[in-house]
Amino acid sequence: MGKTRIEFLCRECGANHPKWLGKCPDCGAWDSLEKFAVEVEATKPGAGPIWGGPEAGDAEELARSGIGRAVALGAVPEAQVPRLPTGIGEFDRVLGGGVVPGSVMLLGGDPGIGKSTLLMQVAASIAARGGTALYASSEESPQQVRLRAERLEPVVRAGGAKALGERLLVLGETDVARIVEQARRAQASIVLVDSIQLVHRRDVTAAPGSIAQLRRATLDLVALAKSTGCAVVLVGHVTKEGALAGPKLLEHLVDVVLGFEGDRHSAIRVVRGVKNRFGSTQEIGLFEMRGDGLAEIEAMRVPLTGGPAAPGCAFVATMAGTRCLLGEVHALVSTGFLGSAKRRASGLDSSRLAMLIAVLEKHGGLRLADQDVFAQALGGLKIAEPAADLAVLLAVAGAFLQRALPDGTVALGEVGLTGELRTVPHLEQRVHESLRRGARVVLVPSSAKITMPKQQSERGKIAGEHLDGEIVKVGTIQRAIDLLAPCTRALSGRDLAPDSARSARESAPALEPKPGARRSEAQPRNAR
Ligand code: TYD
Ligand code: MG
Repeated sequence: MGKTRIEFLCRECGANHPKWLGKCPDCGAWDSLEKFAVEVEATKPGAGPIWGGPEAGDAEELARSGIGRAVALGAVPEAQVPRLPTGIGEFDRVLGGGVVPGSVMLLGGDPGIGKSTLLMQVAASIAARGGTALYASSEESPQQVRLRAERLEPVVRAGGAKALGERLLVLGETDVARIVEQARRAQASIVLVDSIQLVHRRDVTAAPGSIAQLRRATLDLVALAKSTGCAVVLVGHVTKEGALAGPKLLEHLVDVVLGFEGDRHSAIRVVRGVKNRFGSTQEIGLFEMRGDGLAEIEAMRVPLTGGPAAPGCAFVATMAGTRCLLGEVHALVSTGFLGSAKRRASGLDSSRLAMLIAVLEKHGGLRLADQDVFAQALGGLKIAEPAADLAVLLAVAGAFLQRALPDGTVALGEVGLTGELRTVPHLEQRVHESLRRGARVVLVPSSAKITMPKQQSERGKIAGEHLDGEIVKVGTIQRAIDLLAPCTRALSGRDLAPDSARSARESAPALEPKPGARRSEAQPRNAR
């Protein structure tokens, strides 16, 4: 090992400083600097760019590739981004078509959410498709890894761990040098490191998981990826707050950052792109945790009809990338204290909830100042877009007034501060998806321009499919609140007797067949 110099690295932003400071001057974080020994040799100038381009000495090569000398953007040779599909459709969707060879990915998520399971499925799937996968487990022994693998669907489908033979390799190792050496020897097409927090370099004296170790180990794996063209997937722990543990620095070093989320009490898991140098971060991948591992799912099973159309419940069609998903929003309003009423949102934007409560007070005539309001999106789904405003608003209003929307109603629309409803992006796709999934009524803002085939679209065929639902236009939140019908029956009674539920529905006010027509008899707004 060459000469070393002591520097101090910021855990938050990765900036280095020659001496210790209580507060990082770059990002302003307190107590975030950690001691770090830098090899003087490694920092000498001309070490070449991180993505493995030509060295500084190679002037001709440098000029050609546009490194070291400014060239016109159009003159830079085009790069092809090849993809290695993992065979797990939902995972490939998030990545934009597959893993990019030579890229480094970081997958973060709560403990027990299923990171190791997902990684093993990716490894097995790639091995089954003819690639070589090296699963480096620093947390579990190879026996434990095998035990899990034998239960997983992709491994079972490929004929078991034996059938995958030399193409699925397991390494129980925490020394990054040996992981790199084994990956090179096996000519792996993908290396999966579970987890980076427990991997260390022998010549760095800091403890595993410290910023110095994380940085060095990650840089070694980045170098492996760039020099051999194998893809590297790192598992990272997350903190209590859900941020990737320790290092923002780690996120800067890698090409792709994925978050693995889900509600511990539900089986739905969502893979979300946080950063992607090779594609968009709009798409999500949907999985369900089952007895035989993670299964891909197309959409969440949201029972739109037949369920308890209880007060405080509303459905919305939300966009996740190019895909439209149905979501369910629940709200509860209970007596609180004036001046310190609680507003809590889970899976929803809490500032938007506060705004919607204010709009309900001002333009809906509801007195919520002394009411605690709780609202949540069900099934581990996060709905932050304004398109869900109307659904959240109707859930809160329904919970307060003890009134429910007609069975199978999906509400779409952004609520303005003046109480008007605005149209939302991708409205047609949302309406179509709602109707396809069995919605009986879709509420849309009256300003919406829906160009469904002919007028029959209000009830009838869309793009060749027979969809039996109604599109109802509403202009203001007042008119939307008027659609809430009183609920006279208890929830359990309705569950047990579907016929009585039907009669409860039929006693609900009929929705206007003609958009924009005035209701003959307005509902009393405040039932209290
Ligand atoms: P795991 O992948 O070990 O989580 P992580 O690596 O993120 O800590 O998965 C842990 C949980 O998943 C565990 O509590 C059990 C559950 N699980 C299943 O429900 N089905 C399965 O087939 C497997 C392998 C795990
Ligand atoms: Mg694990």
